[in-house]
Amino acid sequence: MGSLIELPVWQDLQKHASQVQALHLRDLFAADANRAQQFSVEAEGLFLDYSKNRITSETVSLLVKLAEASGLRAAMDAMFRGDRINITEKRPVLHTALRAPRGAEVFVDGVNVIPEVHAVLDRMSDFANRVRSGEWLGFTGKRIRNVVNIGIGGSDLGPVMAYEALRSYAQRDLTLRFISNVDGTDFAEATHDLNADETLFIVASKTFGTLETMTNAYSARAWALAQLGDEKAVACHFVAVSTNAARVSDFGIDTANMFGFWDWVGGRYSMDSAIGLSTMLAIGPDNFRAMLAGFHAMDEHFRTAPFHENLPVLMALLTVWYNNFFGAQSVAVLPYDQYLKRFPAYLQQLTMESNGKYVTLSGERAQWETSPIYWGEPGTNGQHSFYQLIHQGTKLIPCDFIGFVHSLNSHGPHHDILIANLFAQAEALAFGKTADQVRAEGNEEWLVPHRVFEGNRPSNMLLADRLTPEILGKLVALYEHNVFTQGVIWQVDSFDQWGVELGKVLAVQIQPELTSGADLHHDSSTNALINRYRRLRHV
Ligand code: F6P
Repeated sequence: MGSLIELPVWQDLQKHASQVQALHLRDLFAADANRAQQFSVEAEGLFLDYSKNRITSETVSLLVKLAEASGLRAAMDAMFRGDRINITEKRPVLHTALRAPRGAEVFVDGVNVIPEVHAVLDRMSDFANRVRSGEWLGFTGKRIRNVVNIGIGGSDLGPVMAYEALRSYAQRDLTLRFISNVDGTDFAEATHDLNADETLFIVASKTFGTLETMTNAYSARAWALAQLGDEKAVACHFVAVSTNAARVSDFGIDTANMFGFWDWVGGRYSMDSAIGLSTMLAIGPDNFRAMLAGFHAMDEHFRTAPFHENLPVLMALLTVWYNNFFGAQSVAVLPYDQYLKRFPAYLQQLTMESNGKYVTLSGERAQWETSPIYWGEPGTNGQHSFYQLIHQGTKLIPCDFIGFVHSLNSHGPHHDILIANLFAQAEALAFGKTADQVRAEGNEEWLVPHRVFEGNRPSNMLLADRLTPEILGKLVALYEHNVFTQGVIWQVDSFDQWGVELGKVLAVQIQPELTSGADLHHDSSTNALINRYRRLRHV
C-alpha cells in the first residue's frame, strides 16, 4: 500500500473538502427536500441518519472510493479468514469467530476454531445456570449472591458496559461488582458489604499477569480466606477467565474452573469471549447468546453490504472526513439511554487503544492524523455540562447520538422528553440560530453575538427500537468494524498496543524505590517526586 496522502482520491478529497467547508447544512437541507432520505441507511435493526453531516453525494462517493483504494475489501476478507493481520504480534484477529454460529468454519493453523468456541460457551452456560439457580454452592454451603469481576482494560470495560447496558435483563437477586483499579479503594468499596461465603470472584485476565488484576486477585484471595479460613474454599469462590492456564493454576485456581479463550482475541475485542462470563451470569445464557447473534448479524452486514450502505464503513468514513479534512480532534458519543452510561468509556479503549498510533504498518511515521479522541456521556446529562462547547465552542466536534424508540422503563412522559431532547440537540447543532432570529426575539444588539448559534455542527443519529441484548451486540460490532475500517485507511495495526508498555515498566522500577533509600537515577522531576513521597508517606 502506497502512502495514504499520495492516493489520487485523497487529493480529490482535499480539494472537495475546501469546497464543502464553505457550505452550511441549512443550505444543503434547503436545496434538497430529499436529503434526510438520501443520507439514511437501515440495517439489522439500526437506523442511521447521517444527513446532518457536512457532506454532499460527491463526498460519499469520494469517501467510498477512498475505502476501495485503501484495500478495505481485501483487509476485511483477511480478517474474517484468520490471516495474521495483527502484524506486530503476528496474530490473527478473530473476534468475529467468537459469535459465529455452531456450524461455521474458521481456521487457525489448519484447525477449525468454531467447535472450541462453542465448547467454551457451553461450559460457561452450564456454570452460569448452576450459579444462577443456586446449585453452585459456596464453601459453607450457601448459594452465591454476589459476583465480583476482577479485571482491567478489555477484561473490565466490556463486562461493565454490558452489565450496565443490560441490567434490565439481569437476575436481580445476584449482585454484580467490578474491581479494576489497583487503587485499594476500588477493592475496599466493592467488597466492604459483602460476605465471602456468598461471593464468587471471576479473575478475568487474558495474560493473567496484569499487575492491577493480580494485585486485586491476591487481595480478594486473602480477603476470602480470612473469612473462610481454608485454602480449599478457593475452588468454590474463584474462577478464572484467561488464555494462560499455567498462571491460573499457579494462582491456585483449579483449571477445571477456568474458562479459556485464545490469543487471536484482542483484549478490547473480548467481551463476547469467556471474558463475558460476568455478563452471562447476570443476564443468563439465552440473553448472552442473543447478544452474540446480534454481533454476528452486524459482522455479516459489514462483510457483505456495499460500502455506501454499510453502517460501520459509512461511520468510519465520516470520522476520517472530519478527522483528516476538517481538523476535528474528537468524536463525542452521546447515548440517550441511561443504561448506556458506560458505553463511551468502553469505546475509549476500543477506539483509542486500537488506532491511537503514529506508526504505520510499514513502520513509518504517519503523515496524517490517526484516531480522534472519543468521549461522551449520556444525554440529557451532558446537555447541562459540556454541550455548551459543542454548540458554541471553537472546536468542531462531530457527535454520534444514539437513541431508542421504546424505553425499558416508561414512566409517564420521561421517554418522550428524553427523545425530544435527543432530536432537538441534533437539530440545534446542525441549523443553529441566526442573528436575525435572535434580534427578532427582541434581544438587545450587544447580546446578539452571544445568543447566535452558528450551527453547521455535524452529527450522526443512530436509532433502534429498544435496547435488547441483540441490539447491544449489533451496536458494539458496529463500532468494532468502524474502528477496523478507520485503521485500514490510516494504515495502522489496530490490534496491538505497544504504547501501554513503557509506563508499566517504569512503574515496576519505581515501586521498590518508593520504600527504599536507594539512589535515584531518573530525571530531576521524577527524582524529586519520589523523594517527596518517601519523606511524607509516613507522616
Ligand atoms: O494495558 C493494556 C492491556 O493490555 C489491554 O489491552 C488489555 O485489555 C488490558 O491491558 C488487560 O489485559 P489482561 O486481560 O491480560 O489482564
